[in-house]
Amino acid sequence: MNTISHPHVLMISEITADGKLTLGRGISSKILMRHMSHEAELLLHKTRAEYDAIMVGSSTIRIDNSFLTVRMVEGKNPVRVIPNAKADLDENANVFDTSLAKTILAVSEEAPAERIAVFEAKGVDVVVAGRQHVEYPRLMEILATRYGIKSLIVEGGPTLNRYMLNAKLVDEIRLIHMPFIVGGDDTPSLVGGMRIGSENEMIRLKLKGTAMYGENLVTEYDVMY
Ligand SMILES: NC(=O)c1ccc[n+]([C@@H]2O[C@H](COP(=O)([O-])OP(=O)(O)OC[C@H]3O[C@@H](n4cnc5c(N)ncnc54)[C@H](OP(=O)(O)O)[C@@H]3O)[C@@H](O)[C@H]2O)c1
Repeated sequence: MNTISHPHVLMISEITADGKLTLGRGISSKILMRHMSHEAELLLHKTRAEYDAIMVGSSTIRIDNSFLTVRMVEGKNPVRVIPNAKADLDENANVFDTSLAKTILAVSEEAPAERIAVFEAKGVDVVVAGRQHVEYPRLMEILATRYGIKSLIVEGGPTLNRYMLNAKLVDEIRLIHMPFIVGGDDTPSLVGGMRIGSENEMIRLKLKGTAMYGENLVTEYDVMY
């Protein structure tokens, strides 16, 4: 039998001309997204409807309180996946309203049993995928084998992007270019915290497409590693 062990992963991000994902540290990217063309918003929602699952980091949930649902086009909601080792997110965040869509909270062995129980009481599926931190190769395997998830969108933020890229789990990247410059040394950019030692460690991308969606250039890359 030919079962896949990892979903196909597409990383999507809105990004300014200077590589930033938001206006400053701790500030919601929803402010930047308000300036996105309607055509690009439709692309985001259409892609969500085409994929089995969508994952964002716990800080993005804290800051943006995202729904991660399909709203602008007809289509099914993807399964929402949130890595949060200690299960310390607010269980009342929008993404844990399981009447809208299924949500999987990925925790580590260190997550307190009483916190897991709080999420399970809300209908959230809790999976243990690591000892201290969520281990993304393990999580991808659980999503594929236990849930049959074949395709996954990663919609940031930079810390999650970094761990997924470092684990070589990202197949494609799609950037929605926002024609703004925001600056700021500590303003989150596409990939946070990663530092390479030499040119050999650069992650190589192969440009495979460009298109205009309203005023937003969209670029698509395969990740070559
Ligand atoms: N423009 C865009 O497209 C876009 C998209 C999304 C977000 N954003 C912006 O990005 C910002 C938030 O980004 P962020 O980088 O601060 O946070 P983030 O990537 O949203 O969240 C960090 C994630 O990394 C995990 N993590 C931390 N250390 C880890 C480790 N050692 N091993 C495995 N996993 C680990 C965290 O899990 P734990 O909970 O276990 O620590 C958490 O799930 C916000 O301002 C948001 O608005 C922009």
